[in-house]
Amino acid sequence: MESIIKLENVHKSYDKLDVIKGISLDIKKGEIISLVGASGSGKSTLVRCINGIEKIQGGNIYVNNEKVNSHSSVAGKVGMVFQNFNLFPHYTVINNIVNPLDNVRGIKKDKAKKIAKSLLEKVKLGDKANYYPNELSGGQKQRVAIARALSMEPDIILFDEPTSSLDPQLSFEVFKTIKQLVEEGYTMVIVTHEIKMALDISTRVIFLDKGKIYFDGKPDEFYTHESERLKDFLENIII
Ligand SMILES: Nc1ncnc2c1ncn2[C@@H]1O[C@H](COP(=O)(O)OP(=O)(O)OP(=O)(O)O)[C@@H](O)[C@H]1O
Ligand SMILES: [Mg+2]
Repeated sequence: MESIIKLENVHKSYDKLDVIKGISLDIKKGEIISLVGASGSGKSTLVRCINGIEKIQGGNIYVNNEKVNSHSSVAGKVGMVFQNFNLFPHYTVINNIVNPLDNVRGIKKDKAKKIAKSLLEKVKLGDKANYYPNELSGGQKQRVAIARALSMEPDIILFDEPTSSLDPQLSFEVFKTIKQLVEEGYTMVIVTHEIKMALDISTRVIFLDKGKIYFDGKPDEFYTHESERLKDFLENIII
């Protein structure tokens, strides 16, 4: 399978704090990866590096075999969905999608509207196109953010705790939407503390601890793996 993302010995630090300590990783087309680990282990930093938002101090990152050196070099190819949705509050739901289609992909308003409408229908929000974000539930806002990410036709979507600000019912709704994307063959990395729901839909799990990978394998091997660090992690979380 073709490689979408490749990391070679990536190092990232903030001043003297080493956060990512030599990570190598190959993400193939169609993989659904859960990225898990304790708070502060470097999960967000790692996905931000992949997205080109963070400058790295060592190693290489490739997207579709092209070396990444900034956000602009991955724009469009790598989609990102954040914990806090990052919608524009003063735009309607549909314009949150139409505007980037217009500004980033240069798609004319009429066509952009059609694309946005069909994506809103995909995430079951066809009836909310003219609402403002603050008139939606958290789960609905997150589904708009997912539709917006899809509108860029990315090769991979990175989710950074897409459900952590939602109550269980709304988290479930968002996971249902993510599951639908799994069925459509998207390549995804999902950073989450909702381990059970994430493992259910993943083809691969990566466990990060203090900036290094201690497990990288199949979901059904995750709970029985003989890593002391992983055991400690699993003992300290509620599943
Ligand atoms: N912009 C920054 N400046 C300085 N230090 C940072 C910055 N961003 C993250 N860090 C530090 O890097 C480490 C890893 O943070 P990161 O946000 O990647 O963790 P995480 O695994 O995503 O945690 P959580 O599960 O709480 O979201 C932490 O020690 C954090 O304080
Ligand atoms: Mg984080």
